[in-house]
Amino acid sequence: MLKGKRILLIVTGGIAAFKAQELIRLLRKHEASVRCVLTDAGAKFVTPLSLQALTEDKVYSDMFSLTDESEMGHIQLSRDADLLVVAPATANILARMAGGLADDLATTVLLATDKPVLAAPAMNVRMWTHAATQANVETLRKRGIQFIGPNDGAMACNEYGPGRMSEPEEIVTAIEALLTTEKPPLERPPLERPLAGKRALVTSGPTREAIDPVRYISNHSSGKQGHAIAAALAQLGADVTLVSGPVGVADPAGVTVVKIESAEQMLAACLAAGKVDVAVCAAAVADWKMAKPASAKIKKKAGSAPPALELAPNPDILATLSKPGPKRPALVVGFAAETENLVANAIEKRTRKGCDWIVANDVSPASGTFGGERNTVHLITAQGVQDWPTLSKERVAMQLAGAIALHLTRKRPAEAAE
Ligand code: CTP
Repeated sequence: MLKGKRILLIVTGGIAAFKAQELIRLLRKHEASVRCVLTDAGAKFVTPLSLQALTEDKVYSDMFSLTDESEMGHIQLSRDADLLVVAPATANILARMAGGLADDLATTVLLATDKPVLAAPAMNVRMWTHAATQANVETLRKRGIQFIGPNDGAMACNEYGPGRMSEPEEIVTAIEALLTTEKPPLERPPLERPLAGKRALVTSGPTREAIDPVRYISNHSSGKQGHAIAAALAQLGADVTLVSGPVGVADPAGVTVVKIESAEQMLAACLAAGKVDVAVCAAAVADWKMAKPASAKIKKKAGSAPPALELAPNPDILATLSKPGPKRPALVVGFAAETENLVANAIEKRTRKGCDWIVANDVSPASGTFGGERNTVHLITAQGVQDWPTLSKERVAMQLAGAIALHLTRKRPAEAAE
């Protein structure tokens, strides 16, 4: 989607400037071209040389460079771009943009441009929540500047809260959204809450199938990935219902959590959630339950053989939600937990279950996925397979939520995210 697009990336002075390098790498992977303007403060965090190597282009810093002015004036810099991205955007540059200053190359380009501008703020939590910064952001929003983030999280200054720059993958998703919408700047939905007004259903964790009142059949699912997806969808503005089996992870903030034990209870809770725009089935649902769970604890009997467990199939929640009809969500996403032939099995699973996308992940013990912090996934759609790099489960969740937002908000949904 970004092939041939020209991004002018303005890198200002914050600790998050190092993430600008990953952003350039990702944009170039998407076949966009990137040209950088680096402020003096930005140059304290990243070198012009590293940005030049990554962009394979000259890095522009000096407002009064005679060569630059003859080769490439500051007006031309912004004219040659499809989009201006300020990442990281410090409190200082936001204030200078809001005030209409043109006291260095970055602010001059920003004042002179007629192109869309996306800012990814990054600063200390108190600086972000300060009334001055919030007023500046409000002013800039009213002028059509788009914002992505900041995210909540632990910060370099040992504080916690909003202020962390959005991850490069999230910024790329926001750039794609901006460059593919035809709406004028002031009519675009805010990028940081593109799922506002949409309903999402997420299943997470394992199910427990009772053998008797004290024993059960279950699996190793930790719920980390499913819970992170519910949190990411809520962060993008969706009204999220999370149906969760028994897990040790905390309920995500701002999400309606329905706690269940068995697969049958999970299905009933999913159906009770009503019509949703997107369903993500990340739960590791037990495929089988006891045909007849014992109503009292099964006792050992001296000399007799261990009891045989007669199993019966559980309902398939993903397949049920994927059935065509007026209640079907616009997008149904399943997971494929595989220990071998990952992609081939997942492609087959997408067709068999009738869902739109499958997130395939390797759960062989060597991968460390179950209970681990990181995940290597492949996104399987009708159009093909996207191999994602190994990411934290939070970043997989955010990237998936971004792809979902893009799919649900684009003009021609059938072509999204592929
Ligand atoms: N799933 C579900 N209900 C079930 C079983 C699975 O909703 N009874 C969903 C999971 O949440 C996941 C997807 O189906 O999104 C695939 O789960 P997986 O365990 O990989 O597949 P299975 O259907 O169990 O197939 P297999 O025999 O390959 O394990």
